[in-house]
Amino acid sequence: MNITVAENYSQMSKKAAEVVEQVILDNSSAVLGLATGTTPIGLYKELISDFKRGKISFKNVKAVNLDEYIGLPKTHVQSYAFFMKSVFFDHIDIDPSNTSIPDGMAENLDAECARYTRLLKGMKRDMQLLGLGSNGHIGFNEPGTPFDSTTYVVNLTSATISDNSRLFGSIEEVPKKAITMGISEIMSAGKILMLASGRNKADAVYSMINGRISEECPASVLQRHPDVTVILGRDAASLL
Ligand code: GLP
Repeated sequence: MNITVAENYSQMSKKAAEVVEQVILDNSSAVLGLATGTTPIGLYKELISDFKRGKISFKNVKAVNLDEYIGLPKTHVQSYAFFMKSVFFDHIDIDPSNTSIPDGMAENLDAECARYTRLLKGMKRDMQLLGLGSNGHIGFNEPGTPFDSTTYVVNLTSATISDNSRLFGSIEEVPKKAITMGISEIMSAGKILMLASGRNKADAVYSMINGRISEECPASVLQRHPDVTVILGRDAASLL
């Protein structure tokens, strides 16, 4: 693992943008696995600003997202489809038909998982961006998820529901289920870029980097990936 501790959130986001932009400079038709959450917002802002300055183009880039809540329409402000459009895709030159996200409103969720698994098999991701749950989750792969999992419907843990409730009106409004890319699919990306900031991530960061590789900390599986870049804020790195 290549680990960098940034001075602050802004520097973490700038360093992360450099990594993503290098992937696109190496391959203008790169396939990027993308993530939602509060952590990557600064990265997306950097990429938008570099796009506007003409430094980078997403014209031929494909994007495939990690996860989506079940039961939130794409128009719901907390759906990950809405997040990706409003925070990133609407501000760059990516072709909307080159973006994919699991459909959390699908009538047949098993069929939707199978569709996403097929999609991922047919698309070699150059890079997968990840955030980190305070319980060590990646995507929505909660502690205990088998490392050989492919896209599936997950029952969110009470820790995740509570963490994410800050973005909803009340804890009752947080969906209890999601569709997530599985751990084996995350691991099949050519490169992993993991970002974490905030003191509440420090325990999970420690377990991810220094802990035993165990399904109890899903992010610990990244120790087995040959090309992982971890960029941390100071608080998140405080236990290392
Ligand atoms: C969410 C998402 C993850 C995200 C993580 C951290 O539940 N499913 O993909 O990385 O939790 O989110 P945040 O960056 O807001 O702390």
